[in-house]
Amino acid sequence: VSKHDYSEYESMFDPMQNDRKARRARKTDGRRHQPKKSHDAILSEMVEAAASAENTAVSTYRPSRFEEGWLLSSLRPFYQQELITDVLAQVKGGKEASVYRCAATPNTGFELAAAKVYRPRMFRQLRNDKMYREGRGLLSAEGQNLNQSVHADRIQRAVGKKTSFGQQVSQTSWLMYEYTTLGQLYQMGAAVPKPLASGENAILMEYIGDEGMAAPLLSEVDLHPKEVRPLFDEVLRNIELMLQHHMIHGDLSAYNILYWEGKITLIDFPQVTNSLTNRNARFILARDIERICDYFADQGVERDPDGILRAFWNRYQAVNQRDQQADESRLNPDAWM
Ligand SMILES: Nc1ncnc2c1ncn2[C@@H]1O[C@H](COP(=O)(O)OP(=O)(O)OP(=O)(O)O)[C@@H](O)[C@H]1O
Ligand SMILES: [Mg+2]
Repeated sequence: VSKHDYSEYESMFDPMQNDRKARRARKTDGRRHQPKKSHDAILSEMVEAAASAENTAVSTYRPSRFEEGWLLSSLRPFYQQELITDVLAQVKGGKEASVYRCAATPNTGFELAAAKVYRPRMFRQLRNDKMYREGRGLLSAEGQNLNQSVHADRIQRAVGKKTSFGQQVSQTSWLMYEYTTLGQLYQMGAAVPKPLASGENAILMEYIGDEGMAAPLLSEVDLHPKEVRPLFDEVLRNIELMLQHHMIHGDLSAYNILYWEGKITLIDFPQVTNSLTNRNARFILARDIERICDYFADQGVERDPDGILRAFWNRYQAVNQRDQQADESRLNPDAWM
């Protein structure tokens, strides 16, 4: 896909970009001089086109011309691993990622799957992720911690300087945090979609909803008064379960919880925070709990967010910090001599 196509793709997500600007961009692009291709270049392009036609992905969903290249190349690994056979519809398009309903193969154990496709990195306003990155290493596409790599210094420099390579590393790490977190949480029995596979720009996971519609957000549904309290408890169970394993969602609210047939599912984990190593952990946890309490207060459940925070913190963090201090004093002779 050419650079031109990506700029069109970008404009889809940018309602502020006015038509005039877009028209001008197209005009200049059209006038751009096309260098003559050598015979070899044409031949090699034809060979490539033929090769990629062999695994052409089908899609019932009709993406716009500018979405198509990115979408199908992002999903190619899932077609190739025979996990999906079709893209049925776009569930939601957003600033950071778009989610699609896919037809899944029996290999997945599901009839439908959700593909979360991250936007091309050059056009995505990376969420201000510094606060979350603190205290967590970079993850490779294989889910390995890159800080243990022999190239750790070089990689860190590239990320710091935001070179193209560095940005790719950041994006991969961001996506792999989401993917590996889903795996850990799913195994622990948290209410999250089962992760199925990851690619360079996309993750494939269990789809919540049916062939007609994806599960609405908790923020979008009218709860029956009787289910409010149990759902609140279920959200708290998940926050506590995560904290027990030193994880904080970091962007939890009724906008990142799906509701389907009386059950909730937590989604959207790239900014997951390590509660032991991130110095902002308490602030980030407090914000998650507050947002949840605000939502449920509107539904008529009055609970004290500060009390919940303190209880959770004392139960899991204080213990850990005491342990850590004890470990440090054992290791540091100054502390006990
Ligand atoms: N497993 C799923 N099943 C059904 N729908 C899903 C699933 N995962 C995500 N969605 C839908 O896609 C939307 C976007 O997903 P998510 O919250 O993970 O991305 P996001 O980073 O918030 O994207 P953006 O920043 O663009 O809003 C969700 O609000 C939800 O409506
Ligand atoms: Mg979200």
